[in-house]
Amino acid sequence: MTAQPQQAVSIHGAWSGRLIFILAAASSAVGLGSIWKLPYIIGQNGGGAFVLVYLGCVLLLSVPLMMAEIMIGRRGRQSPVNSFAALAIEAKASSKWRWVGVLGVLTGFLILSYYSVIGGWVLAWLVKFPLGLAPAADAATAKVTLDDFFASPAEIFGWHTLFMLVVALIVMRGVERGLEQAVRILMPGLLILLVVVVAYSAMYGNFSEAVAFIFTPDFSQLTWNGVVVAMGHSFFTMSIGMGALLAYGAYMPAHQSIAVSTVWIIAIDTLVSLLAGLAMFPLVFASGLSPAEGPGLMFVTLPVVFEAMPGGIFLGGAFFLMVLFAAWGSAIGLVEPFAAWLVERGASRVRATLVLCAAAWALGIVTVLSFNILAGVQVGGRTLYELLDYVTANVLLPVGGVLLAIFAGWVMKDTRVMKELAMKNMGLYLAWRVAVRVVAPSLILVVLIVGLLG
Ligand code: PHE
Repeated sequence: MTAQPQQAVSIHGAWSGRLIFILAAASSAVGLGSIWKLPYIIGQNGGGAFVLVYLGCVLLLSVPLMMAEIMIGRRGRQSPVNSFAALAIEAKASSKWRWVGVLGVLTGFLILSYYSVIGGWVLAWLVKFPLGLAPAADAATAKVTLDDFFASPAEIFGWHTLFMLVVALIVMRGVERGLEQAVRILMPGLLILLVVVVAYSAMYGNFSEAVAFIFTPDFSQLTWNGVVVAMGHSFFTMSIGMGALLAYGAYMPAHQSIAVSTVWIIAIDTLVSLLAGLAMFPLVFASGLSPAEGPGLMFVTLPVVFEAMPGGIFLGGAFFLMVLFAAWGSAIGLVEPFAAWLVERGASRVRATLVLCAAAWALGIVTVLSFNILAGVQVGGRTLYELLDYVTANVLLPVGGVLLAIFAGWVMKDTRVMKELAMKNMGLYLAWRVAVRVVAPSLILVVLIVGLLG
C-alpha cells in the first residue's frame, strides 16, 4: 500500500502531543549507545580527542540529518519504505528510492539482534547484582564474574529471550497504548536515576582524572579507525540512518517545529551521554581498571564500586534499572519501522511484531555464541558480534545517512521541504540545506572511504 503523502495522520496512529514526540524520539536515542557503548569506545580510543570528533559529528551531521529524517517521516506519514516511495513519486523521481527505506529497516533488524543480547546482560545484572549473585568485591573478582557469565551461552541466551519478550509486548500494543505509555515512564525515570548515580560517582570516585580523560584532547591517541567509530557512533546514538526517527516523525503533530524538536532530542542524548561518562570514568580510575576494558566495562567497573559503598546494592539496582529502561526505549525504536512496513503490507500489528522479534531473537544467537563457543571465529580480527556492530553502526547507518541527505537535499522539491520544516529563520534554513546537500554527504563519504581503505 502506498498512500498519498500529506495525510493528516498515519494509519498507525499518532503521538498524543508535542512533548510525547520529543520524549519518544529521545527515548529511542538515549539507550545502550549512550550509557554502555560510548564510555567503552571512549576508553578504547584514547579519550578526549575521540570525544571532540564525536561531538563535531553530532553538530555537523546529527543535527541536519535528524531534521531531514523526521521531515521525510512527517511528510510521508508511513513506514520508511513507503514514505520514501511516496515522496519520490511526489517529486517525480524513481520509486526505487524505497530501497533506502528497505536498507534502513534491515539495518535496524540487524542491530536489534545484538542489542537485545546486551540488553539481556543488563537485565541479568539488575537481578543478580542486588541478590549477591554477581560478586564484585574487587576488580579481579568482578572480571571473573563477567567471564563466567560470558562462558555460559545458555544463560546469556535466557536473558536475551526475556529482554526481547518485553520489547515484543510493548510494540505489539501499538503507538498510543504501547510505545507512548512506555516512554512516559522510561524517559523521566532514567534521567532522575542518572543524576543520582553521577552524584555518587563524584563523591566516591576519582572525578578530576575522569574529567581530564574525557575532556582533554590528545590527538596522538586518535586513529582513523577512531574517527570512523566516532562518526558511526554519532549515527547510532542518535538513532539516525535506519528509519526509527522517520517512523516516529510519521506520528508527529503537523504543526510541531522539527528544528526545535531536533535540538531538544540531541541535547538530551548528548547530556545523558556525557553524564554517563562522568558516572563511569571516576569509578574506573578509582578502581584501577583500564578504560580500554571493552564491552564489559560497565559490568566490571560499576559493581565493584557499588558493592563497596554503603547502600550500594540499591544504587546498583537503580543504575541497572535505568540502563534497562534506556535499552527498552531504544529497542522499540528498532522494531517499529519494520513492523509499520509489514502492517502496511497487510499484516496485523501483533503478527508483524512477533515475526520480527522472533527472527531477530534467533539471529541474536550469533551474538550470544560469539562471546564463548564461536569466540575464535573472526573476520579481519573481529568476532562475529564485533563485525555486526562495526558494519551496522559504522558503515550501514552512515551510508543510510548519505542517501537520506541526498534525498532530502537533491530529490525532494525545495518548496515542499521548506513548507514541511516551516523554519522562520531563512538563514538557518539555508545553512541546513547546505549541510544536507553538500557538507554531510561529502564528510561521511570521505571518512568512510579513507577509514575503510586503511
Ligand atoms: N540510539 C540507540 C542507542 O543509543 C540505538 C538505536 C539505533 C536505536 C538506531 C534505534 C535506532 O542505544
